[in-house]
Amino acid sequence: MQNEWHIGVIGGSGLYSDIGLEDAQEIAIASPFGEPSGPVTLGRIGAIRFSFIARHGAGHRLSPSTVNYRANIDALKRCGVTDLLAMSAVGSLQEGYAPGSFVAVDQLIDRTMGRASTFFDTGLVAHVSLADPVCPRLAELASSAAENAGGKVHRGGCYIAIEGPQFSTRAESRMYRQWGADVIGMTGMPEARLAREAELPYAMLAMVTDYDSWRESEAGVEVSDVLAVMQANAAIARRTLRCLAESLPANRVAVAADRALDGALITAPGAQD
Ligand code: ADE
Repeated sequence: MQNEWHIGVIGGSGLYSDIGLEDAQEIAIASPFGEPSGPVTLGRIGAIRFSFIARHGAGHRLSPSTVNYRANIDALKRCGVTDLLAMSAVGSLQEGYAPGSFVAVDQLIDRTMGRASTFFDTGLVAHVSLADPVCPRLAELASSAAENAGGKVHRGGCYIAIEGPQFSTRAESRMYRQWGADVIGMTGMPEARLAREAELPYAMLAMVTDYDSWRESEAGVEVSDVLAVMQANAAIARRTLRCLAESLPANRVAVAADRALDGALITAPGAQD
């Protein structure tokens, strides 16, 4: 059992680089799953080790559909991370989740298409449980940290991942609300699935940048508004990581997601019926 924390951070829109790590070192990690979005930055905040990857690569080169989610998770796993915190920009599907606030997501719906979404598809089959895709401990630690960093945080919310890169039509946006989704983004899946398969406890702190397109009285999503909110909140996102480092218990006690494959139905390579 590992009892030291090593936090992996996947930075989304607004958190591309310079997350404030001490002794930072950029390392290119090779993965059998292909090219990660870019190098991993290893470093620490105080006594806590962090490894960071920018999901969309330097200069936002990669669209949500072309991010190699498997390689990113694999690269962070190879760096030895124990827990994975994703930061993502999202649209809000609920009046109460206003732009500028953060949502600690606790459920996800996957509407993405054609993305490589499992590590177990060539000879080795595994069916992990995904009923509770988010680690409640990490989500709570991240929520408190974001509050201490000055953010307004909603604890809990259902994230719907769409393929994009276009934003949704008004009809889609209204339908997602009926489905029970609270926020909408383009990258939370298959990321959360893969984190579970990699036995990495995963949480997502979603930064609300807009109201998507369900509100009749408003124009659809304006990219300029999204960018403005992201820039205004990037400092809070950085401070959140510092507050998180300062608040972690001295010893990391194992959680269920650390052993997700123990309960999975697995077929060994070459197994016969
Ligand atoms: N990312 C930020 N805002 C979004 C929205 N409205 N839909 C999908 N992804 C988003």
